[in-house]
Amino acid sequence: MVRSIPIEIQPVAKSRVSEYDLTHVPFGKCFSDHMLVAEYVNGAWQKAQILPYQDQPLSYAISALHYGQAIFEGMKAYKNASGQVSLFRPLENLKRLNTGAVRMAMPEVPEDLFMEGLCELIRLDQQWVPDSEFGSLYIRPFLIATDEAIGVKISDTYKFIILTCPAGKYYADPIKVWIETSYFRAVHGGVGFVKAAGNYGRSLYPTKLAEARGYKQVLWTDSETHSYFEESGTMNVMFVIDGKLITPALSDTILDGITRKSVLQLARHWNMPVEERKVSIQEVLEAISKGTLTEVFGCGTAATIAQIIGIGYKTDYYELKPVAERTFSTKVDETLRKIRKGLMPDPFDWMLPV
Ligand SMILES: Cc1ncc(COP(=O)(O)O)c(C=O)c1O
Repeated sequence: MVRSIPIEIQPVAKSRVSEYDLTHVPFGKCFSDHMLVAEYVNGAWQKAQILPYQDQPLSYAISALHYGQAIFEGMKAYKNASGQVSLFRPLENLKRLNTGAVRMAMPEVPEDLFMEGLCELIRLDQQWVPDSEFGSLYIRPFLIATDEAIGVKISDTYKFIILTCPAGKYYADPIKVWIETSYFRAVHGGVGFVKAAGNYGRSLYPTKLAEARGYKQVLWTDSETHSYFEESGTMNVMFVIDGKLITPALSDTILDGITRKSVLQLARHWNMPVEERKVSIQEVLEAISKGTLTEVFGCGTAATIAQIIGIGYKTDYYELKPVAERTFSTKVDETLRKIRKGLMPDPFDWMLPV
């Protein structure tokens, strides 16, 4: 592949990896030795460097901070038994990042910069990829507007950065979720389908209220009627009803999750009936009372498969079937883990060795 710009590499003099127990690091707080930083100036990507992880000066006036021109990705690298490190479907992340970049009037990140930068970075920091059963290296690519100017306008300058952190399980236990019908996450014509920083900021207050009621996450509903499910926290949501896998259809208010896509692909591969369509609160509550709803789970890169064991709605709480009886999501979780860890064949070529 011909690089549009060369990537300059400044390796650390001494790795910090031995200072950490990679199987017990808190999520997102311990950063690996290196980071990638690329700069967009004068209408082009000009400079790309892999540097020791460090703070760098940035003005308090940058437009990402004031006007929210900031998008990000979340992906993971895994280590197999022979020590080979591979990425899970990285081109899907690039595609989503660039779809977001267009919507946010930001420059797209070229494939060669993204892929080569990412692979070089992970190769350099492969010691940081935990080899534990549930371990992975969480990868955070992000794109921010860096014009030093107050005033709402499209920035002329940007930085594309990749940080990485070793990670274990995101949710240690199954979770309870609160069906949110006062606040909403996204509206048609908005940026719900983009991993825009502002989507997460706006979700924090409703999530705090749900937490105060004893729930781990919010289950978002549509902004117009609050009767149809959208997604939950940083996960897409799936239901198994009458033996069918049912999930809200994608729209401009829902993030096109790569885990969602992969779970649906596996289900279809196993000849399980799959429906991507509107899913109403009423349908789910009825299925709970009839006993036909057998599984509910969230899926996402950080959380992988997060079992949902209870749902709160208005004044009621619905306890769901025990996790031990959930054959589909348990099999999907195991299969994804084994494909990622090289413990079984990768039938769809999802893994890319770095
Ligand atoms: C809002 C939201 N929905 C769904 C997902 C799941 O997407 P993915 O499976 O690509 O991680 C995420 C995480 O990225 C998210 O932030």
